[in-house]
Amino acid sequence: MKRFIYMDNHATTPVDPRVFEAMKPYFMEDFGNAASRTHVFGWRAAEAVKIAREQIARLINAEPEEIIFTSGATESDNLAIKGVAAAYAEKGNHIITCQTEHKAVLDSCKRLESQGCAVTYLPVGRDGRVDPTQLRAAITDRTILITIMFANNEIGTIHPIAEIGQIAKEYGILFHCDAVQALGKVPCDVQALGIDLLSISAHKMYGPKGIGALYVRRRKPRVKLVPIIDGGGHERGMRSGTLNVPGIVGLGKACEICREEMAVESARIAALRDKLQNHLLTHLDEVYVNGSIEHRLPNCLNMSFAYVEGESLMMGLDDVAVSSGSACTSATLEPSYVLRALGVPVELAHSSIRFGLGRFNTEAEVDYVAEKMVGVVKRLREMSPLYDMARRGVNLSTVDWGGHGHSHGPEGHSH
Ligand SMILES: Cc1ncc(COP(=O)(O)O)c(C=O)c1O
Repeated sequence: MKRFIYMDNHATTPVDPRVFEAMKPYFMEDFGNAASRTHVFGWRAAEAVKIAREQIARLINAEPEEIIFTSGATESDNLAIKGVAAAYAEKGNHIITCQTEHKAVLDSCKRLESQGCAVTYLPVGRDGRVDPTQLRAAITDRTILITIMFANNEIGTIHPIAEIGQIAKEYGILFHCDAVQALGKVPCDVQALGIDLLSISAHKMYGPKGIGALYVRRRKPRVKLVPIIDGGGHERGMRSGTLNVPGIVGLGKACEICREEMAVESARIAALRDKLQNHLLTHLDEVYVNGSIEHRLPNCLNMSFAYVEGESLMMGLDDVAVSSGSACTSATLEPSYVLRALGVPVELAHSSIRFGLGRFNTEAEVDYVAEKMVGVVKRLREMSPLYDMARRGVNLSTVDWGGHGHSHGPEGHSH
């Protein structure tokens, strides 16, 4: 059977075997409902949930009671943004976010706009970061929430989180941070960074899919949330629904492993990422790294390869799983809105690839992908009349790039 190399760890990660082992008993032996107070089955489940809450809280320097379990970060983002908007409606109706947020944040904001909220979508610089000065200038006396992600899922760019937290505190505005991609890769201390709400997803950190959490600050200030799901009043009334005990145990274990191994693991992965990046920059011309090089997740490399299309690149990399900077929307292949927000030209956005390295990638895999990538780009460029023209000095700014007639590849943009 053909072996595939997985390098799309921003989309999802495999479950760590240690996480899987920890979860196993909670499917069949200890299957109780954590809300059952009258027997040992319930108590055992509740105890497992308690331990997981502590493991998660420890990773982000929070209290266990501040962790609210959800079905994943999409729900956490929705709950944070819509929950705050409803709870603080009397105080104001203005939210500040940024153009390169995940759709779970952007579409929650759009929903609120349709219900009368005002939303500012801050631009980002060429490096993909929001400018704290622009953030400050956007604040009004009606601003109730700033929601800016820790690190971007396409380019890995890390925003100036401590500065944003500081500004939020100064003005008494709540700060929600979608930390899905950063958690377990870089230190994330909600106290030091002034974060009031933080979205977490297990399947991006070697835990299972369908479980996540929202950190909700309980002191200084005590954050109020109007729930978006009504029911039995679980999770301090903020998120009703029987707890997914095996999933929660998995998320807890995943957090514990990250806390213990993050420093060593991130250094190893960053070295592999840098090796890949350097190989591509050395052996190919007209390739560009997208987003900040300095403020970047250790596992992310997003590059544009001029004169070749991402879809063709991905087809050439037939045994390597990566994502491209194009996304299928209805009838056309749209360039990534994140890359466009950085000011990356459309054609370069279409020629971009996101390599997402992870815990289980080896150096041999990185070497293989680096060599293969160079070969594929060179081969495609040999067939590219545009590359040939550019090499001969033809001014390509007059060339019409429109009418991409390609078929639709897999969607690959907003994980
Ligand atoms: C930055 C970011 N936020 C939110 C999500 C959604 O997370 P989930 O898949 O747990 O709903 C993702 C993943 O797709 C993401 O990368």
